[in-house]
Amino acid sequence: MDRKHAFTFPEGFLWGCATSAYQIEGSPLADGAGPSIWQRFAHTPGMMRDGDTGDTACDHYRRFRDDVRLMAELGLKAYRFSINWSRVLPAGTGAVNAAGLGFYQRLVDALLEHGIQPMVTLFHWDLPAALDDRGGWLNPDIAHWFAEYADVCFRALDDRVPLWATLNEPWVVTDGGYLHGALAPGHRSPYEAPIASHHLLRAHGAAVQAYRAGGRHRIGLVVNLEPKYPASQSPADLAATARAEAYMNRQYLDPVFLGRYPDELREVFGEAWPQWPERDFDLIRQPLDFLGVNYYTRSVTRHDDGTWPLRAARVRQPRATYSETDWEVYPQGLTDTLLWVRQRYGAIPLYVTENGAAFYDPPTAHGGRVQDPLRVQYLHAHLRAVHEAIRQGVDLRGYFAWSLLDNLEWSLGFSKRFGLVHVDFATQQRTPKDSARFYTDVIASHGGRLDAEP
Ligand code: BGC
Repeated sequence: MDRKHAFTFPEGFLWGCATSAYQIEGSPLADGAGPSIWQRFAHTPGMMRDGDTGDTACDHYRRFRDDVRLMAELGLKAYRFSINWSRVLPAGTGAVNAAGLGFYQRLVDALLEHGIQPMVTLFHWDLPAALDDRGGWLNPDIAHWFAEYADVCFRALDDRVPLWATLNEPWVVTDGGYLHGALAPGHRSPYEAPIASHHLLRAHGAAVQAYRAGGRHRIGLVVNLEPKYPASQSPADLAATARAEAYMNRQYLDPVFLGRYPDELREVFGEAWPQWPERDFDLIRQPLDFLGVNYYTRSVTRHDDGTWPLRAARVRQPRATYSETDWEVYPQGLTDTLLWVRQRYGAIPLYVTENGAAFYDPPTAHGGRVQDPLRVQYLHAHLRAVHEAIRQGVDLRGYFAWSLLDNLEWSLGFSKRFGLVHVDFATQQRTPKDSARFYTDVIASHGGRLDAEP
């Protein structure tokens, strides 16, 4: 008989890791693939830290079989990855590139051979450059372009893929790509950002509709949520907190679940905030099978007139631990976020589709070992926080650590390591860190390992 653990997880709970195409694959133009906006952005001088690019990244495109074997050795039950749209449709629409699609078919087959359940994200930021040339997320036609691409993927893979996500983190696409410009396509415009958001949501809705026409499994959306706590109870700080929360957490979920945008966005964007026809919300508000939540940190928020356009700033917590990306480590925020989703949007099945942290991991492995005690602590505390949400009744079906491998952290290049597995980018040698070993124990004990301290 199994000993009773304090930290038991529901039967069938999926333990996984997540990655995304441009961050790990390399060979971005191989076998007939078209360029993506990230390919273009990374090759634009000055956009990437140290001039890094995804040309090789983790070379996963060529090493995927070894990587799947490694996942199996680690005991993973599930793997969340994304498809690079421009491998499948090099021009974004029209001709299908069978070789590009074939890569993902082989990857899915390899996962299934090892008993690892795939979760596929259709869009993790690497828009085909050919579509950006036609206006990208600013062109209303993109909802149809995306549904066309999604349909090609469904037809090729739905017989073997039980879980689909349309978009990864639409907030980051618009905030980084269209408002502040640190991410591809690098625009800086308060007029463009709400338009891009709206068309991302319409595209999401159109892909879900396409799935309902023939899909046999489950489809959802992945958003990044960051709970906002007011720095004080002053009316100014409370209003700033509401703006920040509306902008980051409700901008996407309110339209999807409630069929409208939060009022605060009009205040944030002023005259740049557009009016949209009601029928758009019918498209956006498609019933979902699950919601994926990516959680990294929280924000304690105060009013700040100097922070454009939100007029809200993050207050640094003097006694907290911060990761290498300067994000506060705050596990309680993950419990709070999951409870908030259920309270605001109802009892939809949830997955934590990303959670993790960049820490400085010593480049030299000690006798084949990479010690990353801060990441072990981070995982331990966040998995306990996940368990607490389940204990309080949240219908949480799985957890995906970000990330399987150290990888290209977008415009920060290879300077930030999020992996449970260390990658030596000169040799492509993979070394599971202590955090990977810890996660293996958690999975093997179905959470029982959390009873003990890290
Ligand atoms: C993204 C990942 C990214 C991670 C860490 C998420 O915003 O989905 O692609 O690497 O966070 O920044």
